[in-house]
Amino acid sequence: MHIPSLIERKRDGGILSTAEIQSVIAAFTRGDMPEYQMSALAMAVFFRGMTPEETAALTEAMLHSGTMLAWNDHDPMRVDKHSTGGIGDKTSLILAPLLACDGVWVPMISGRGLGITGGTLDKLESIPGFRTQLSEIEIHNVIDQAGCVMVGQTSGICPADKKLYALRDVTGTVPSIPLITASIMSKKLAEGLNRLVLDVKFGSGAFMKTEEQAHQLAQSMVTVGRALGVRSSVRLSQMNEPTGESAGNALEVAECVRCLKGEGPQDLEDIVLDLASAVAVSPRVDLQKMLHRGDAWRKFQQMVALQGGSVEALEKIESVHRAPFIAELKAGSSGVLQRMDAGGIGQVVLELGAGRSKAGDPVDFAVGCDQIAKTGTEVRSGDVLLRIHARTKAALAHAFDVLPRHIKIT
Ligand code: URA
Repeated sequence: MHIPSLIERKRDGGILSTAEIQSVIAAFTRGDMPEYQMSALAMAVFFRGMTPEETAALTEAMLHSGTMLAWNDHDPMRVDKHSTGGIGDKTSLILAPLLACDGVWVPMISGRGLGITGGTLDKLESIPGFRTQLSEIEIHNVIDQAGCVMVGQTSGICPADKKLYALRDVTGTVPSIPLITASIMSKKLAEGLNRLVLDVKFGSGAFMKTEEQAHQLAQSMVTVGRALGVRSSVRLSQMNEPTGESAGNALEVAECVRCLKGEGPQDLEDIVLDLASAVAVSPRVDLQKMLHRGDAWRKFQQMVALQGGSVEALEKIESVHRAPFIAELKAGSSGVLQRMDAGGIGQVVLELGAGRSKAGDPVDFAVGCDQIAKTGTEVRSGDVLLRIHARTKAALAHAFDVLPRHIKIT
């Protein structure tokens, strides 16, 4: 294999064979292909794209660069969801235990927040003691007992993606549909799934800004999922306002606890039920009953305990992580709330300290926004539009200054 010729072929719009893609990924994972060549190839893919066959081959090669979770023939069906991320997107914490109540297994490997979108692992780690880094043996133990487990990527899973993602992050090659598809799908397929639902978001608070882009990404991921033997479906959803009524790690966990007790905001419950029913055995109406009966709440508590988390602290998570400065932002006029911009609110929440600008930065579990009003509601002057939770007075003042630019009442 002459790597410069492959890079030139892709640069000129040519097609790489499955064997060539496998050799490239194997050489890169071993450390035999230098990063400058992989960066050049990623840039060529960024500009020239890949055919569905090339994308499936890349996904499969990345999947086989490491280990997969192994299951027995008589194990229950494995299902999962992947979301492309958004503001206040906390659905995983409700969906995984709910699906486990349905008798399927949910071996959920999640990520951390980067930029304005939050990450499932950061939210879970706000529960004192909760361990997100488990060995494969521990993953199996938790799932055997609870039916669901929520962890970070193990060192054995998709090492090629780990290396390639780090390179893409610093070479301007993240927003490429074939590269995103292979990155996301290789990690999800390493869970050994039977069914997968993809929650692809578009709008100001999402990675994909337009419905057209989201549609293309969804199509690409579903095609690869099916080509590699996993029943995959998709839900496109708008991310122009935050999901539910909070954004920020512990604040979102508190909202999940309310939703798991059947007292969550309607939009959050609807998204969870729509996604869950795409991969569940039971119909939506039965899943809703399980949620309202508290089955999923008990299942979540069981999983938290098995992963070392304090169930007692979970019940009062808002007081465990209480920001020193909490203040209400009130409506300055009466009318209909037209805009509660997810991108703008996400940026404020990030700057309050709930997110990170680069991988490895610490996050502040306590800060963020809650009681976020939903668009379309009638508000009167003086009504609370949201509450800000800040670590310092200066951070609070900054949020007060910026947030009104992202809210519109007419
Ligand atoms: N998330 C991933 O895991 N990979 C990407 O390429 C983009 C988002």
